[in-house]
Amino acid sequence: MERAAPADTASGTQSVDAGRPNLFSIARRARYAVAQTSRVALYTVHSEAMRRINQRIQKDLPPVPKPVPDGPVPSQRRMLSDIAKLFAADLKSVEAGDYPMPQDGTMSPRELLATSRAFFKDVPEVARRRATGAHQEVFEDRARFPDTLPRYYRQNFHFQTDGWLSEESAKLYDFQVDVLFSGATAAMRRRALVPFARIIRRKDQRKLAYMDLACGTSGLLGPALGAFPRLRGIGVDLSEPYLSVARDRLGNPRAAYTTAKAEQLPFADNSLDVVSCVYLFHELPPKIRRQVFAEVARVLKPGGSFLFVDSLQTGDVPDYDGLLSLFPQLFHEPYYTSYLKEDFGAIGRDTGLELREVTPAFVSRMAEFVKPA
Ligand SMILES: C[S@@+](CC[C@H](N)C(=O)[O-])C[C@H]1O[C@@H](n2cnc3c(N)ncnc32)[C@H](O)[C@@H]1O
Repeated sequence: MERAAPADTASGTQSVDAGRPNLFSIARRARYAVAQTSRVALYTVHSEAMRRINQRIQKDLPPVPKPVPDGPVPSQRRMLSDIAKLFAADLKSVEAGDYPMPQDGTMSPRELLATSRAFFKDVPEVARRRATGAHQEVFEDRARFPDTLPRYYRQNFHFQTDGWLSEESAKLYDFQVDVLFSGATAAMRRRALVPFARIIRRKDQRKLAYMDLACGTSGLLGPALGAFPRLRGIGVDLSEPYLSVARDRLGNPRAAYTTAKAEQLPFADNSLDVVSCVYLFHELPPKIRRQVFAEVARVLKPGGSFLFVDSLQTGDVPDYDGLLSLFPQLFHEPYYTSYLKEDFGAIGRDTGLELREVTPAFVSRMAEFVKPA
């Protein structure tokens, strides 16, 4: 991301004069549109190529049952229109001074080519696992993957090679997710920066204690530290290789990393102002989800915020209900079906966190929970 005016000084009217865009803002909108449209095009091309490879290799693999949606599935056109709405909201947040113009997809051509190659090399492996139901390779390979990690964690989530447990997996992860979400992943994550910017307007960012839980390769930690230039943050994850890729990619001295279980956080009671968490809860068994909420409630200071981004749930956007039901039929997602119906407002209440708002963002939802002061 570009350096922004610190959000605590941003007026929200830097470039839009009484609602009338000036030349500067027209140029900025054009730049945003070009960047995001090329992202969508890049990942859509990869998705289409993957579909064709899958069709071709399926003939040599055991047949996979045809996925059956349980509810409506949005058309391609509807999804593109919802992605456009997400981008419009994203740009509006930039113009409001919540965060700076994003610099998504700043891979060098060489990096892009190497990642694209690795992605296509992995497609047949994922297809083989899907066709044979092989999602326990990580669990079975005790020589390569530590058996001290929780059992529910040692699986090939999404049928991905090495699950969460190798550097190759970590390097491919963001690309694979963007192929799935048509390049809209970063914009969905950034919805968490809107309440975050509100918090930073009220408080001195240098004094905020911030943790991104299950930070992966720094998909939100990076943008958060980019948006708020005096903020420090700790990324917590159970995967050493994902943390190592996060460290290399971010190279930001304001970031620190800790390997830990979300359900057993190495922080004192009432010690953090903000905890964010993106795409973790649909990967957790119901019992662990509750433990993680209780841990977040324990480590947050009274008045602290929990910014939660994850998949849409059933009923959030009824036209997407059938699409959500397809996800666990297509990918190894052992806990997703129970996630779809989970009452996070009730889990929050039971563990001491109040649900303040829920905002759908294409196939994700952003929820803010607050620990009462
Ligand atoms: C779907 S990825 C999301 C990563 C990142 N937050 C993002 O926005 O892309 C899930 C992450 O959760 C981590 N994870 C899963 N279970 C965990 C647990 N119990 N404790 C800590 N991290 C966990 C995985 O290692 C992985 O990095």
